[in-house]
Amino acid sequence: MAVLEQLTSQQAINLEKQYGSNTYHPLPVVLSRGEGVYVWDVDGKKYYDFLSAYSAVNQGHCHPKIVNALIKQAQTLTLTSRAFHNNVLGRYEKFACEYFGYDKLLPMNSGAEAVEAALKICRKWGYEIKGISENEGKIIVCNKNFHGRTTTIVSFSSDSSANKNFGPYSNGFINIDYNDLNALEHALKSNSNISGFLVEPIQGEAGVYVPDEGYLAKAKDLCEQYNVLFIADEIQTGIARTGKLLAVDHENVKPDILILGKALSGGLYPVSAAMANNNIMGVMTPGTHGSTFGGNPLGAAVAIAALEVIRDEKLAENAEKLGRLFRSELGKYIETSNIVKLVRGKGLLNAIVINDTEDSETAWNICLSLRDNGLLAKPTHGNIIRFAPPLVMNEEQLLDCVSIIIKTLKQFEY
Ligand SMILES: Cc1ncc(COP(=O)(O)O)c(C=O)c1O
Repeated sequence: MAVLEQLTSQQAINLEKQYGSNTYHPLPVVLSRGEGVYVWDVDGKKYYDFLSAYSAVNQGHCHPKIVNALIKQAQTLTLTSRAFHNNVLGRYEKFACEYFGYDKLLPMNSGAEAVEAALKICRKWGYEIKGISENEGKIIVCNKNFHGRTTTIVSFSSDSSANKNFGPYSNGFINIDYNDLNALEHALKSNSNISGFLVEPIQGEAGVYVPDEGYLAKAKDLCEQYNVLFIADEIQTGIARTGKLLAVDHENVKPDILILGKALSGGLYPVSAAMANNNIMGVMTPGTHGSTFGGNPLGAAVAIAALEVIRDEKLAENAEKLGRLFRSELGKYIETSNIVKLVRGKGLLNAIVINDTEDSETAWNICLSLRDNGLLAKPTHGNIIRFAPPLVMNEEQLLDCVSIIIKTLKQFEY
């Protein structure tokens, strides 16, 4: 079989099964094209994408402005490594620093790498600025967190499928419950070697858990009180997804370290970043961190275009407006339904909780029926289905999606 020969869905699935490491359980659908809010499978069937590659495609699939930036830069210069300067990185760093309001940016590729970078910056700050004794530093993290898949990050995951048999685990983390300010204060009080608090403003992977109003602002105040860095992982919640540029903006919180990824490139290319002001980022010196691809001119050009699209097309405002409409329409249906318990979320990062046991197959089966009805979504954990369409959706399309979702859920009522 020639590698680029047209494949049927089953052939494509079989190839992945035979030759790919078995680390995912994808919905059985094989996509071959995307444009805006839509994707098409190999048979030409069209779907609404209601996952957006876990919020990486906020700007819509193959956004022409970002694609053009990618093509233009790909024909000019793609990679220099950081052994030499390139003429795009500095422009991107300035653009992103002004855009998000920080002094400095550390460029990486995947989300997990940016989290790792943030942890290193935080630890180094703890030793060199806060004065924690060598190797005694601790970082507070939350139960049910999802920050990526590296060995250090899974060391503080509370999800056994993410970390079982990947020990020995990295030390230096204190787990507390999410959305629990007493637990945070208690942890901060009981240990003077804490350098940071790493938190998702909404726990996306765990099932779109939105913390109580005021949680983030009070957590930031507590961190200030104890001279601890507040580190926001906005890889999934950031870049307009929740109806503001950043999810922390809902509570006017400015993280000491901001972590971005996913939609930083509009889904065209892996681009991530850790950002901070000089008093914190200043601890990083040549040799302390880096990556061959991090800060490459191709990713930098793509990221500038991706951020311009967010701003120029007012995607945060659109996410805020359509998110309200989505929750209100689904809320009305839920009042009359025995299959869905609730809808929750912010902007266009939402989830429904299915009225069944955590280990039931119902959410998965609903996603299969949604697929058959022309909309792609996936369960997160157990019986929760996340709904996160591209932010370039319009009201008519959203209402069409709501009717597909309600029609599908009605098939599962009992
Ligand atoms: C909040 C959060 N942090 C980190 C990551 C890891 O990003 P990546 O998969 O690009 O390594 C994700 C991915 O889903 C995420 O949602």
